Amino acid sequence: MNREHELLTAAIEKANENKSNIKKDPYYPLYHVASPVGLINDPNGWIQWKGTYHLFFQWNPFENSHGAKFWGHVTSTDLVHWKEESPALAPSESYEKDGCYSGSAIAIDDKLYLFYTGNVKNDDQRESYQCIAVSQDGHQFRKLGNVLDVPEGYTAHFRDPKVWKENDVYYMVMGAQTLEEKGCVLLFQSKNLHQWENLGVLADGFGYMWECPDFFSLQGKDVLLFSPQGMEPEGIHYQNTFQSGYFIGEWKEGTNRYTHNHFQEIDHGFDFYAPQTTEDEKGRRILIAWMGMADGFEHLHPTLDYNWIHQLTIPRELSIRDNKLIQQPVEELKQLRGNKLYDRTIKDRWNGEISRTVEWIFKPNDEQEFTLELYNGIQLVYNQREKTLSFYRERLDHKGHEVRTALVEGNVSEVRAYVDRSSIELFINDGELTFTSRIFPSIKNKEMQIHGDGHLTVWNLAKKVGE
Ligand code: FRU
Repeated sequence: MNREHELLTAAIEKANENKSNIKKDPYYPLYHVASPVGLINDPNGWIQWKGTYHLFFQWNPFENSHGAKFWGHVTSTDLVHWKEESPALAPSESYEKDGCYSGSAIAIDDKLYLFYTGNVKNDDQRESYQCIAVSQDGHQFRKLGNVLDVPEGYTAHFRDPKVWKENDVYYMVMGAQTLEEKGCVLLFQSKNLHQWENLGVLADGFGYMWECPDFFSLQGKDVLLFSPQGMEPEGIHYQNTFQSGYFIGEWKEGTNRYTHNHFQEIDHGFDFYAPQTTEDEKGRRILIAWMGMADGFEHLHPTLDYNWIHQLTIPRELSIRDNKLIQQPVEELKQLRGNKLYDRTIKDRWNGEISRTVEWIFKPNDEQEFTLELYNGIQLVYNQREKTLSFYRERLDHKGHEVRTALVEGNVSEVRAYVDRSSIELFINDGELTFTSRIFPSIKNKEMQIHGDGHLTVWNLAKKVGE
């Protein structure tokens, strides 16, 4: 058996062995993509190909920690039901021995190509190689090896290729760090996928490393989405260990000339990183992110008892409104709606019981403060005077609560939530603000409370029997 086959077989065995465990875990999600065993992080290679959505992810099947990453693989035809596939990439070769790191997918002439970073670490020395793998059937991938070395002037923190095609030219954005340890995104172009010309810095200006860039056009604008490391907290901003955000601007094709507005955070919760988008066959720009964070608290996740850690977000459709990225749950997720638990007017105070897989929509009355509380301790508080929304959850080390706050423009007219056992995704005002977080409330708690006036609708979410 060759090394690649050996590693892939061992990973599949690990996942199979853990099936009975994850079934028992009350925190294992119903409708989110989560690790079958071990740790997952960034979504990778996100694409709809020949009608089927293919989603890959960074995966360490052997430990509940970061390490030599594989590319796990799931597919879907409806963005609601995900089918587990055999892992696509294992770190079997010398140029990727410490991980097949993040990257993207592109379909060319009936074939599916994956671009990823081969990560090598020897003592303190890091090397990185930008690699290609190709598939005819979307299941088995043949590696073609390294196509791009680290350019001069940059450290080996050079990774996460995102490739696309425009007017017969292939382009690639790369996360990079200069020798002076400044983060940036570099742009490359190619006629054949194998030789890449460096067009230079597309954007830079803060932080020590920019990870997972994605560059796409949307409603006539050019959006650069990326995850910068090394931003200091500033008031309510940049509170997580690492951030994710974007520029909106204009790019002169074929050059690195990109004029853009200021950096904006894309999410305001605790667990959102390394988002990746794709344009699907309906022409929608759909985003999925890692619902996790390398924040030093990973060893406290209760899911470790069941031998897995982390999950991805639900797919979200992107648009631009008032120079801001808007995120809305894809329409297909409405298929999950089962019975309506509540559809009622709330006056002043209300409490009821909900399950752990719910969608709810609360429409507060105009200009009014409110507090929404779930499972005793998870709170969303709207302060009308200061125009702030604050999301509270219990700290993972149980030492009190922690909070993330965002500013609201205008008023809050709608709060929509997707709850899935150990996660909550909040969409405010039709996707103008989002808060994405893992939550681990005591599993028996079913309480929901509202202080305020408005209308509440709650659906129980379920997959249809047999799925
Ligand atoms: C982001 C990241 C990427 C890297 C991958 C390794 O979370 O650090 O830059 O490719 O994770 O798993």
